[in-house]
Amino acid sequence: MKGTIKKITFCISIALLAIGCQEQEDPYLTWQVYKGDASSSSYSSLTQINKENVNQLEVAWIYRTGDIEENFPRTGIETNPIIVNDILYGASAYIKVFAVDAATGEELWTFDPHEGARVGGVQRGIVYWEEGDDKRILFSAGTWLYALNAETGEPITGFGNRGRVNMNEGLGRDPETISVRATSPGIIYRDLLIMGSAVGEAYASAPGHIRAYNVRTGEMVWIFHTIPEPGEPGFETWETQDEVALGNRGGANNWAGMSLDKERGIVYVPLGSATYDFYGGDRPGKNLYANALLALDAGTGDHIWHYQTVYHDLWDYDLPAPPNLLTVERDNEPVDVVAQITKQGFTFVFDRETGEPIFPIEERSVPPSNLEEAWPVQPFPVKPEPFARYNFTVDEVTDISPEAHDFVLNKIDAYRNEGLFTPHDPDQETIFFPSTSGAGRWGGAAHDPESGILFVNASELVQVSTVHRAEIQPTANNTPYARGQNIYVQHCATCHGLDRNGQPPLFPSVNNLEETSSRQEVASVIESGRGMMPAFPTMSEQEKNAIITYLFEEEETIAEFQNIQGVPELNGESRHIVRVTRRYIQDPDGYPAIKPPWGTLNAIDLNTGEIKWKVPLGTYPELIEKGIPPTGTPSMGGPIVTAGGLVFIGGTEDKQFRAFDKDTGELIWQTTLPAGGFATPSTYMSGGKQYVVIAAGGGRGTEPGDYYVTYSLPND
Ligand code: HEC
Repeated sequence: MKGTIKKITFCISIALLAIGCQEQEDPYLTWQVYKGDASSSSYSSLTQINKENVNQLEVAWIYRTGDIEENFPRTGIETNPIIVNDILYGASAYIKVFAVDAATGEELWTFDPHEGARVGGVQRGIVYWEEGDDKRILFSAGTWLYALNAETGEPITGFGNRGRVNMNEGLGRDPETISVRATSPGIIYRDLLIMGSAVGEAYASAPGHIRAYNVRTGEMVWIFHTIPEPGEPGFETWETQDEVALGNRGGANNWAGMSLDKERGIVYVPLGSATYDFYGGDRPGKNLYANALLALDAGTGDHIWHYQTVYHDLWDYDLPAPPNLLTVERDNEPVDVVAQITKQGFTFVFDRETGEPIFPIEERSVPPSNLEEAWPVQPFPVKPEPFARYNFTVDEVTDISPEAHDFVLNKIDAYRNEGLFTPHDPDQETIFFPSTSGAGRWGGAAHDPESGILFVNASELVQVSTVHRAEIQPTANNTPYARGQNIYVQHCATCHGLDRNGQPPLFPSVNNLEETSSRQEVASVIESGRGMMPAFPTMSEQEKNAIITYLFEEEETIAEFQNIQGVPELNGESRHIVRVTRRYIQDPDGYPAIKPPWGTLNAIDLNTGEIKWKVPLGTYPELIEKGIPPTGTPSMGGPIVTAGGLVFIGGTEDKQFRAFDKDTGELIWQTTLPAGGFATPSTYMSGGKQYVVIAAGGGRGTEPGDYYVTYSLPND
């Protein structure tokens, strides 16, 4: 309704200027931008598919990226495809970018930035820009930002260095020693591409400064220091005098994507925590702009306002998704707001221009740390209602069976558990909830611009954290071997052991690796992960080389070796560092320790701050068979909402793709995907037909897939 009112007012004011009231282009008719449009609405005004006919949907076409044929274990696609001029652009699990006919799925071109090397990583979206006949696709792979001709897939030679720009450059650090990537797409403002980054979460990671590149040339036009430098506002929130610690400040990066208010020229940038993520003894203070929602002048990068959602973060509570820009009604007046969901299950809502909170936010006391100076208070929005639980109390222990209940109850007695923001404890394992994986995740929220309702999926899993102290050897001699050993101790020893013997059968030995593996194979395992081994996609080439040199017991081959990401500069002394490991706590059958629901879909009315409806999202069929009501499952990838009255969402562990009634939360349609659809869908028109598409890349404990599956209504 509000949208309609606004449009009319707009027409009248234009009419007064005697220009006439022209049909405004509806920004919600296309899906040319990640999550639908620059406001991250994930909304479509298409209605061909609607509540009445959604149950007739059938598969229109399936595109396979070919990654599975290559028989590489890497899987998982998080891409939200874009559709421009009847062409759909997406990426594969190896980050091969492709263009297909949006109506048929026929392949038009593919581009492999890794030239056949089996390199994985996360690639959530692709950016489109055009001016006249100049049509470009921009995306990141590895540390590179690429520009391709959108029609041919050929690199744009005039962009950067023959079609690409190294994102390690221009941060004021040695580009050889850092690893800056982007897992989510940047955003276009005029002829600028504004980019965030994923910089690693270890000690001494790169800083997450925001940069704008000229779309035509690849030149860096502006930079905003998310970690303020001496003399800049916010520098005083890093209260250390230690030059080494100051130089090693990292993180506060935007890995989740951003949103843009085109008319106002303001870009809204949600930031992650400072590094190291779980210990801040070397970074006392509030640590601006970590965990802040940042409003910047999109043309210049100038600071307009910010709001820090976690002070001195010790929990990796990164802002996990681009914020939603919409208009709500307060005191019968329309207000343009920016709404930011969080891992804690909160929604922070601000006036888009001033940054004033729309609903009250309280600073509440939080538990002290036995390890360092934790910040004594943290912000809690009084409204909107949280979309997930954020305390795991005895009352919340799983009740799916008496055995599960007793098992978990017995366990949690031993843990420190003082609620949200309990610091990790050196003397006692600690309940970590909603944990680093979060209630809100990178799929983020969709909003309906007509009603001011926000739709968001939540996951509710409990972790336990353990504090370890590790000793890092002095590296005054700066050899790759010594560096490699230090990185190994920090990142690999938890599983493969300090002696490298592993813990078979779960974690293999990595001794004598050189007898069975090539350097490249090991580098690929580190970069992409394998089976239960996590990927380390942000590790730099030098770091990987160093670890391999150590693992292969090789002679030092690289003469000069400098400050490496992941290891604090040691000044010739050995140093004790704190590391925190986490694990999920589960019942004996592997289900979460908390009472269901473990996954939900929520509709939050941002006009009132009330939750309008909440339903479980996903099922475990074997629990349904036992007569347990739907529990929901954790989910990855966000919802989309349409004027046809539907909320579409995949993302669950049961491989289902579902449509809900946006007014009531009633499930009206579901279908089984060929593999888990851990991605946000898109919807679009092509040749007079509405399609809904979702990437089904599997992984996360389900079988791998390399599918983009598209649905439409049958012909007649
Ligand atoms: C969370 C536990 C975990 C961590 C941390 C971890 N790994 Fe692994 N790693 C595994 C598991 C499990 C496998 C076996 C994977 C499989 O084949 O299914 C593995 C396999 C490997 C292999 C292949 C071994 C072989 O026999 O082919 C190498 C090499 C390796 N890891 C190196 C590393 C390095 C280097 C690091 C640190 C950067 C690291 N791992 C961190 C769990 C881990």
